[in-house]
Amino acid sequence: MKTILTGIRSNSVLTLGNYLGALLPMVRLANKWSNEYQVNIFVPDLHSIISEVDGDLQENIIQTIKYYLAAGLEVNENVHIYRQSYVPAHSELCWILNCVATMGETSRMIQYKEKSKGQESCNVGIFDYPILMAADILLYSAEYIPLGEDQFQHIELARNIATRFNNRFGEIFVVPAKTADQVKFMGVSDGIRIRDLLTPEKKMSKSTRAENSKIMLDDDPEKAAKKIMSATTDSLGIIKFDMWGQPGISNLLQIESLITDTPLQDVISTWAGQTSYGELKRKVASSVSAMLSEFQEKLKNIPDEEVYKLLEKGEKYANEVAGKKLYEVQKAFHLR
Ligand code: TRP
Repeated sequence: MKTILTGIRSNSVLTLGNYLGALLPMVRLANKWSNEYQVNIFVPDLHSIISEVDGDLQENIIQTIKYYLAAGLEVNENVHIYRQSYVPAHSELCWILNCVATMGETSRMIQYKEKSKGQESCNVGIFDYPILMAADILLYSAEYIPLGEDQFQHIELARNIATRFNNRFGEIFVVPAKTADQVKFMGVSDGIRIRDLLTPEKKMSKSTRAENSKIMLDDDPEKAAKKIMSATTDSLGIIKFDMWGQPGISNLLQIESLITDTPLQDVISTWAGQTSYGELKRKVASSVSAMLSEFQEKLKNIPDEEVYKLLEKGEKYANEVAGKKLYEVQKAFHLR
């Protein structure tokens, strides 16, 4: 059975953008494929500590797993949930891959360049981040890794490392699918990007100061609806999907499509040619507030014990699979 694998860092409460753009599509993919694929959903807690964590990391980890469940993840025997730091093979393989990857290719990573801005005081973990990520993926022979477009370069790096390793030692790693095929598998034309409500040219981000520019998953639903009502639009007066010309309106159509699980094209045709931005906002505001109420209610009702039970099972599975792959790699280098 092939494997789909994904993870999301749990450094803080997520925005509606993280939820609709990353977590929810992953849950829908998992539910669609978990009879034919192994589905690995893990919390990259070792990736969290490259930067500051808001609140308590332990609480955030448990909360992140609850997010998947509250988003509707159906857990069957092919779905595995685990924490990266509970599977020591990740760190071990990361070290070995450090000796396969080159400084040149790792230095070219955009995320590293942005986060380090050339500062010598930047921690080494930020530099090594994509190598640990390659280990996360290659240990489980994952073929599909549904992620946002900002992570595509890291998947390409994992592909290059796996290919180089295999050329040297034989077919030990499964090389993940090409980015174009990843996107096709996810069923989107390109990465989904929910926009800032006040400045829709930008991505919605938790670090933006203005409260009305973003919706957090723990926002009061009424308050979130008001934020939608005050979202920036434009003065063209016609509802059309055009991310360049009308980013605010397009963002609202995108949000409506994701929340109601309706293909974007259908939402676009429903609203095509209409002129009342107020009406569109009222519809999206009510979808957002209904979604948040339901989500928060579900979240409240998931006991910690349920999460710990899933982790115990998932970590047993992960240690078995990852341990076997690590052993093959150790043998290739004559460490065993
Ligand atoms: N880089 C991902 C993020 O920023 C998290 C992550 C780490 C990950 N390792 C991974 C995702 C492996 C998929 C596969 O959210």
